[in-house]
Amino acid sequence: MYTEILRIIEGGLAKDARKVYSYSKLLAEKIGKDGDSKMSKMIFRAIENRTATTVSMDELLTTPVDPESRLNIVDVEVPSNEDIPVILSKLIDAKITDFINMVKYQSQLIQKGIETSNSLLLYGNPGCGKTTIAKYISEQTGLPLVIARFDAIVSSLLGNTAKNIRKIFDFADNKPCILFLDEFDAIAKARDDQYELGELKRVINSLLQNIDSFAKQNILIAATNHPELLDKAIWRRFNTVIEIGLPQEDEIIKLLKTFTDGFSTEFMHDDKRLDRLSKLLIEKSPSDIKTIINNAKAQTVINGRETLQYEDVLTELFEFNHRGNLTIEKLVEFLNDNGVPQASIAERMGISIRQVRNYLNKQL
Ligand SMILES: Nc1ncnc2c1ncn2[C@@H]1O[C@H](COP(=O)(O)OP(=O)(O)OP(=O)(O)O)[C@@H](O)[C@H]1O
Ligand SMILES: [Mg+2]
Repeated sequence: MYTEILRIIEGGLAKDARKVYSYSKLLAEKIGKDGDSKMSKMIFRAIENRTATTVSMDELLTTPVDPESRLNIVDVEVPSNEDIPVILSKLIDAKITDFINMVKYQSQLIQKGIETSNSLLLYGNPGCGKTTIAKYISEQTGLPLVIARFDAIVSSLLGNTAKNIRKIFDFADNKPCILFLDEFDAIAKARDDQYELGELKRVINSLLQNIDSFAKQNILIAATNHPELLDKAIWRRFNTVIEIGLPQEDEIIKLLKTFTDGFSTEFMHDDKRLDRLSKLLIEKSPSDIKTIINNAKAQTVINGRETLQYEDVLTELFEFNHRGNLTIEKLVEFLNDNGVPQASIAERMGISIRQVRNYLNKQL
């Protein structure tokens, strides 16, 4: 009996579902013979429910390739129980939660005769979290994410593009996974590049047909920065369409909290400074805010300081806004305008207070 347990552990660590399944079955039979029929039944029940899922999970490991470039046309990401922080407005957060619940309760809804169609189109500015949301949904539902690489799909041979599209949908069909078409507009963009309009129409039609038959019983997410490039016919295929916009002040504060987590900060407890920062960061994407905070954190560590300071973030924000066009006068003015005391400005720049005042007077 101990041998079976050992083999199950080995199988689990090697993600070998078949090994786990066959040794669990042996174990259940032995336990049953030894007289513990209750435990034996419990093991049988646990593996019976899992077989269909685990076997098709294994199938997810052999991914299709483009016949010409030999590049993989999909990547599979298995959820790892990671905590993915996504900060969204209340309304959008609620819509994403609704979608997750529809996916989680899909089989119950179907059993009750309720038709569900789980297809979600995310559109909006770059760096606002479309790809992150797809990963978050995968974590929340426990379903692997099959990410279609549209750069690899749009093959130089039109025939291959249509074939690649079909391969992707066939690959994800009837498997416990979410098909994620990222940078979805790549197909539409090809309009200017390689194909005649008529040829491209055929590719788009094949895409539409695939979406139609796929979305009925599978889960589909698509994301694009360029909604204007998508055909109207494509929009209609998705039963949930969400615009992911730039964060507002409330969300910016939450993003600052998330990105500074684990660092000692004083400005996060200073309402006035926090308010100022959130106003200065309006119009920035979460990805921009992450870059600014990460740069500020890096400078803090490099300079051997313990605390991430308000002026560190302001300095990085200023550099972010004026890439390639930095002057010390302007930076001094920016810090001064945003409430950093002149003595602190002098100290961090290694100049005298008199010089700080000189710079400021020059600006007048
Ligand atoms: N709403 C958000 N909440 C928390 N972090 C975010 C959010 N949006 C973006 N990020 C951070 O910014 C990075 C980039 O975001 P992501 O790739 O999801 O954006 P995107 O909308 O897919 O951008 P693109 O249109 O360029 O593909 C992510 O690694 C994530 O850490
Ligand atoms: Mg993205």
